[in-house]
Amino acid sequence: MTDIRTILEERLQAAFDTVEAGADPVLRPSDHADFQVNGTLPLAKRLGRNPRELAEGLLAAVDLGGICETVEVSGPGFLNLTLSAGFLADQLQAMAADEALGLAPTADPVTVVVDYSAPNVAKEMHVGHLRSTIIGDALVRLLQAAGHEVVRENHVGDWGTPFGMLIEHLLDLGEEEATSELSVGDLDGFYRQARASFDADEAFAARARARVVLLQSGDPETLRLWGILVGQSIAYFDEVYAKLGVLLTDADVVGESFYNPMLEGVVADLEALGLLVENDGARCVFPPGFANRQGDPLPLIIRKSDGGYGYAATDLAAIRDRVDRLGAGRILYVVGAPQAQHLQMCFAVARLAGWLPEGVEAVHVAFGSVLGPDRKVFRTRAGSTVKLVDLLDEAVARAAGEVAERNPDLDEGTRRDMARALGVGAVKYADLSNDRAKDYVFDMDRMLAAQGDTGPYLQYAHARVRNIFARGEVDPPPAGSPLVLAEPAERALGLRLLRFGDAVAGARQAADPHRLCLFLYETASAFSSFYDHCPVLKAPDGPTRLSRLALADLTARVLARGLGLLGIEAPDRM
Ligand code: ARG
Repeated sequence: MTDIRTILEERLQAAFDTVEAGADPVLRPSDHADFQVNGTLPLAKRLGRNPRELAEGLLAAVDLGGICETVEVSGPGFLNLTLSAGFLADQLQAMAADEALGLAPTADPVTVVVDYSAPNVAKEMHVGHLRSTIIGDALVRLLQAAGHEVVRENHVGDWGTPFGMLIEHLLDLGEEEATSELSVGDLDGFYRQARASFDADEAFAARARARVVLLQSGDPETLRLWGILVGQSIAYFDEVYAKLGVLLTDADVVGESFYNPMLEGVVADLEALGLLVENDGARCVFPPGFANRQGDPLPLIIRKSDGGYGYAATDLAAIRDRVDRLGAGRILYVVGAPQAQHLQMCFAVARLAGWLPEGVEAVHVAFGSVLGPDRKVFRTRAGSTVKLVDLLDEAVARAAGEVAERNPDLDEGTRRDMARALGVGAVKYADLSNDRAKDYVFDMDRMLAAQGDTGPYLQYAHARVRNIFARGEVDPPPAGSPLVLAEPAERALGLRLLRFGDAVAGARQAADPHRLCLFLYETASAFSSFYDHCPVLKAPDGPTRLSRLALADLTARVLARGLGLLGIEAPDRM
């Protein structure tokens, strides 16, 4: 099915072309009508014509027969379009008959590498990793739904100097003890102890430094010990991923260590290109356009003065690998906003070196911080960083209370599944429904609320629609059943549902799931007022009842599919 926007744009383009070939009609959804055409103003300005007159001329020229009820010139010279109820009904019927609900695959599929989650070995996953994991998961689902080839990459921090002290600490504890400590997920405790020994004990520190050298030279025993740390940490991350219900698996882990053998080549090739500059003993590239506050050019450190490779060297190797081996056409980095400069500098150097060809996009999908109720960095009452699993467990536990109250008759297993869907969905939706670039305050009460722009509200809305069919003991009307949009509330809901494709495409293009969240919230609200104004089960048998049942069914499908694209479950019963 062709979406409304495309149909309208084609017709409008034909009319605009008669005035100036290729002039953009600039079609926008509108509060005053269904759509507004704004392109008349810039066009009139370019041609030195009166905008209202131009708009009158376009109105006479455009063929919107069978599509629009009315087309009017408004304000300084906009065109207001009001769609005809019959056209809307036909479109909805086509959408309902389509398994994909009108979500068309992209015309130009590319390989998109999504770099997300990326926690660090032997360190707790914090709320920043929560955001990266949740946003990345939604983007992966949105891209896959459009038919792109998506490669998930979990750029786990599993290499570098801290591993010297971590391995020595592991030896001090004994392998068995260390393994059990890590397997219960006390990653931060393990890290802190290693750090404490390193700071307090000179002999330990010397062993740790020697261990780094052994690790880098590929000593088999050292690598085996390192493998224990990595393996235990990844097993723990997997538990968190399973709780979150995200798509990431072990197979998606491409940690920093993977690029280690490629780092020498990065340095050699930058050297050969004449891009490397010695700066305070370090080997650096100065990409043009990056300066500090004083206006001095900023270096991207590739190799440190002690001979070790910087974080940037790994990111450069990763870009090369993604372009050359994976054939990436686009690379998305779902990484916190504080790393913006690092990433932009890496992209700039990769372009200079020719590793990131012009046709390949690298995008930093930056996100803001999660704040505590005091609007400062989110910490526990004791002042330590908040463990992500603790948050999820708390959300699920609180949801379980709610579920038990609402459904005392349900069996244990079903209730547990519901609580998980509700609690995890609440946390995810709260994260995704915020403008991703902004900070947000983590407020468990608000995210679990059954009212307002929350995950639970949408899940309940979906279950409420499904419940109409259960209560009425009716099946949804067969695909392609005719629809009638007689009442304003029916029309408003129908028009809203038809914007699903636009909302999904918008969220995907801007890499911002909150656009889809907003759409779903508005859809649930539109359904709510439809349901208040238009009896469904109580409507007299006939075309009206059938049409309303079809609208309800389509609403439930759109809500479930939309939530699914965000990685949020939509149980039929809540
Ligand atoms: N491990 C890093 C951290 O915890 C994030 C890595 C982001 N991805 C990247 N390619 N640099 O901050």
